[in-house]
Amino acid sequence: MSDPSTDIAKVLVSEEEIRRRVGELAAQVQSDFAGCDLVVVGLLTGTLMFLADIVREIDLPLRLDFIGVSSYRDGTESRELVFTKELKLDVAGRDVLLVDDILDTGKTLRAVIDKLEGMAPRQVRTCVLLSKKARREYEIPADYVGFEIPDEFVVGYGLDYAEKYRNLPHIGVLKKMAVSGEL
Ligand code: IMP
Ligand code: MG
Repeated sequence: MSDPSTDIAKVLVSEEEIRRRVGELAAQVQSDFAGCDLVVVGLLTGTLMFLADIVREIDLPLRLDFIGVSSYRDGTESRELVFTKELKLDVAGRDVLLVDDILDTGKTLRAVIDKLEGMAPRQVRTCVLLSKKARREYEIPADYVGFEIPDEFVVGYGLDYAEKYRNLPHIGVLKKMAVSGEL
């Protein structure tokens, strides 16, 4: 396999920019959730790096859990969401911070928020590293947003294309030639 960084056309968000912004988001979360019974819920798998970095900057007692959700494209624009991992912790009466890598159409977060709301938490707030506003189809209250980005397919820092590029330390746009078939 070739060096993954050579498939990147341009770096959209550098390591340094990510580090600074994650620190700012963590500070906001820390002040907003002080005194709460905080459960941080990460969506697998893309949120891995972001979640690991942000929770280490949040100086509050918190619990950590994961929900797995995959979307299978059927060759058209319609996608079916499948839950691949359920929550282990009880979030009833607790304060949930839902963390995802990127808010695109909003379909994924809408489904996960609806599911969480059904578990009677005290509140659910949403934190995403990236947001592509131009693509939004579902109304999502994104309480904490790292970066608004243009409508381009990005990889790195946890985000994948066909399960590759998650280990890049920055967020970048793939070269056209690295993308075969439908995204
Ligand atoms: P949504 O349900 O359309 O909001 O899509 C959200 C999910 O699609 C994210 O959690 C990602 O897994 C994936 N996704 C959307 N845009 C990108 C991208 O530019 N790069 C990598 N994954 C993406
Ligand atoms: Mg995802």
